[in-house]
Amino acid sequence: MRLRRFFLRQCAGLALGLWLGVGCALGPSQVVSTPAVTALGQVGQSTLDACMVCHSTREMQRGPVLDGQPEWYLAEQLRNFKSGRRGKNLANRAGTLMGAAMAKVETEAQLAALARYFASLKPKPFIRVIRGDIAIGRAHYATRCASCHGASGEGKPEIESPPVNVQEDWFLLDQLRKYANDQRGVHPSDAGGLMMKAAAAALSQDDLRHVVAYIAKDLTVTPPLQKVAPPKQ
Ligand code: HEC
Ligand code: HEC
Repeated sequence: MRLRRFFLRQCAGLALGLWLGVGCALGPSQVVSTPAVTALGQVGQSTLDACMVCHSTREMQRGPVLDGQPEWYLAEQLRNFKSGRRGKNLANRAGTLMGAAMAKVETEAQLAALARYFASLKPKPFIRVIRGDIAIGRAHYATRCASCHGASGEGKPEIESPPVNVQEDWFLLDQLRKYANDQRGVHPSDAGGLMMKAAAAALSQDDLRHVVAYIAKDLTVTPPLQKVAPPKQ
């Protein structure tokens, strides 16, 4: 899949060449049938590139990897940013950056296509960085989170509760802290955010860390990426 996209990128530059009959590793019919690219619909590559400045692992100061989150949740959150339910709270600088980035997304069709695109990608393995007490985290998860996010962290779309088993652990903790600290879920019409805020505020900072360490160890669907050890001298 990734290899295919690599080829696609190479091919895009060669589109003219293809047209002239020069050819490329993949024929045009295969290009059109690639699901991720079809999902992009009417979103231009430049818009997607703008998203990827922050939503990839390239930058130090970045947003979360979005790959593999459900389409309905991505679309809901993009609508929250577009309408100002999220992304207008000055206490959350990262959130306001994301709010500003929504200027690039002009239509509902583009918003839907972006949600479909990221949902079509496989969740990405990541390096676990949050440490905590797994037993304490497991106990809190069972009593305070599972009713809404499911026993395996798979989410419950029927109550608009997202999965928590695909996101990076640092991002889960970052968002839990933001709910607890009035940086997310404060807009009066953000019903889901307000509900989640109450759940996060009920736990101490340490307990939030334990819960995330448990989720990343036992519920996350991707295997942990290990840091590559520096070569021995
Ligand atoms: C300037 C950096 C930046 C750009 C550009 C950007 N984002 Fe974001 N995005 C973020 C950050 C940071 C967050 C987390 C916000 C927070 O902490 O509240 C975020 C959050 C999100 C979320 C919510 C994720 C979740 O699980 O809650 C979605 C969806 C999203 N971005 C999609 C996009 C799309 C699509 C684009 C391109 C149109 C884009 N972003 C462009 C930085 C950016
Ligand atoms: C009453 C139901 C409910 C409970 C209990 C609950 N959540 Fe949530 N959670 C939600 C909903 C709804 C959202 C989406 C909120 C939004 O739109 O901001 C959410 C969002 C989240 C997010 C943000 C995900 C993302 O990618 O943006 C995280 C992380 C999270 N919950 C973790 C937890 C943890 C950990 C617990 C237990 C301490 C918990 N939740 C308890 C309903 C709940």
